[in-house]
Amino acid sequence: MPQVRIATPEELSDCLAIRHDVFVLEQAVTVEEDLDGLDAQCVQFLAITDEGPVGTARMRKTDDGEVRAERVAVRASSRGLGLGALLMDALEDEARRRGEAAVVLHAQVEVVPFYTRRGYEPFGPQFLDARIPHQAMRKPLRSEPTES
Ligand SMILES: CC(C)(COP(=O)(O)OP(=O)(O)OC[C@H]1O[C@@H](n2cnc3c(N)ncnc32)[C@H](O)[C@@H]1OP(=O)(O)O)[C@@H](O)C(=O)NCCC(=O)NCCS
Repeated sequence: MPQVRIATPEELSDCLAIRHDVFVLEQAVTVEEDLDGLDAQCVQFLAITDEGPVGTARMRKTDDGEVRAERVAVRASSRGLGLGALLMDALEDEARRRGEAAVVLHAQVEVVPFYTRRGYEPFGPQFLDARIPHQAMRKPLRSEPTES
């Protein structure tokens, strides 16, 4: 059974190694773009199978109070097994536990359907980040008051 949970501080290197393989080696993102200096202020998540650590994601609260899901990555050999979904579930559970109302992310346009399936809705225009087209998306975590 895969284990998907918050990474310990010692496991940050496992998270970064997965990101290096997926973003830097596979997607030609630069090391500087991946290692943006914000990891210490993030909650890091790790997916572990019999193969070892194979997936990661991080949760970050921005200066304007937005909760972001970032650096969602599963090693190519472990995709399609539900690990990306489990990582998003773990991140959203943690955000809910902290009383957050929503999660925002910048999806690579190619994987927008992955997030749409999980309840994220696109907002705003597409934009380039690390030369890759992105789309901002948002998912409310609990019912928000409606205007009467
Ligand atoms: C996007 C990514 C994290 C998905 O991880 P994964 O473990 O393969 O995803 P899962 O197996 O949990 O898939 C969950 C669902 O999303 C769907 N899905 C996954 N990737 C998809 C894609 N690229 N396009 C459309 N649907 C996709 C699956 O079919 C599955 O559908 P189901 O619930 O009906 O079975 C993984 O493909 C990845 O790391 N890609 C490279 C890095 C990347 O692009 N990260 C996103 C940055 S925004």
